[in-house]
Amino acid sequence: KKDGYDWYMRKEIFEQPRAVADALLGRWSAEGQLQLDELRLSEGELREIDKIVVIGCGTANYSGLVAKYAIEHWTRIPCEVELAHEFRYRDPILTRNTLVVAISQSGETADTLMAIRYAKLQKAKVLAICNTNGSTIPRESDAVIYTHAGPEIAVASTKGFLTQLIACYLLGLYLAQVRGTKFGDEITAVVRELELVPAKVQQQLDRCEEIYALAREHADTRSVLFLGRHAGFPVALEGALKLKELAYIHAEGFAAGELKHGPIALIEEGLPVFCVMPPKGRDQLHDKMASAVQEVRARGARTIALVEEGDDAASYADTVIPLPKVPTLLQPLVAVVPLQLFACELATVMGHDVDQPRNLAKSVTVE
Ligand code: F6R
Repeated sequence: KKDGYDWYMRKEIFEQPRAVADALLGRWSAEGQLQLDELRLSEGELREIDKIVVIGCGTANYSGLVAKYAIEHWTRIPCEVELAHEFRYRDPILTRNTLVVAISQSGETADTLMAIRYAKLQKAKVLAICNTNGSTIPRESDAVIYTHAGPEIAVASTKGFLTQLIACYLLGLYLAQVRGTKFGDEITAVVRELELVPAKVQQQLDRCEEIYALAREHADTRSVLFLGRHAGFPVALEGALKLKELAYIHAEGFAAGELKHGPIALIEEGLPVFCVMPPKGRDQLHDKMASAVQEVRARGARTIALVEEGDDAASYADTVIPLPKVPTLLQPLVAVVPLQLFACELATVMGHDVDQPRNLAKSVTVE
């Protein structure tokens, strides 16, 4: 069943090129238009949307954080992201023209289900992004985008996350197409980039031995920090969550700009700090983050930078993990893969049950 892998999680990590390809399958028409056949919301309804609220828990919440960057950039529709269990207890402002996007791999998470029931009572439109056909959340939603990752058995989400990201990107691009906020050729260009992602994820998997060796060096680690900016910030959060779940060690993700506002006090000699570097772009984010990395390094941290190929990261990082070139908004798809491999291997060398971590269940059906 595990195809020769020791854990379902490892198998599912290695299935990601296929899962991403399947999530993209059939979305592009012969006429060069995006089509989301399962969507069940009319173009008229989508044109009226004036606010989007993305809800989910855990890893699904982190895909929502990435979605916000992409959806706002492409559609100019204000987009909030909220933990599903916090959402309905704060009297959120919802109208007929609010689109609530509920992300859930299992489709059975009680917190998310209760949140969409609340949203429907307030007359908002609810769209589910889900991996499990016929599960409760998509059944109770007005619309659905299935992620087609195939069954995810390991408790820790991997291919579920990558395919949720794909669904979020497709939703953002589709809204941009329907509402005319991006030209057709701009949308085509992003879709072409998405089609290249399975091969780029495979490239990351082909280098797994380097990551495994890094994990083995950290077998005694009790704490790991993750830094990111822009779309790399949710990747930092996801990298930290994987370590908490699987290796049972303290791990935290921060927006790199936040460091000097407190977290830099945590830095001590030898502390591993993963740094998800933004690609070098026009906005100087890369250079700003590189100087933050230098600062933690100067205070003794062991900096491990995930950087676009060709970035001269050896000047500010102790260890460099190269990432294939992708547009900034799509970078989470490739950047998270080494972090998944690291967590899986670290938990393995620590002797933990990777597929069934203590105290956790695959689907959380109580609030
Ligand atoms: C993380 C993880 C959890 C789930 C969360 C939501 O690896 O597995 O954080 O992502 O419980 O589950 P779904 O997506 O099924 O609603």
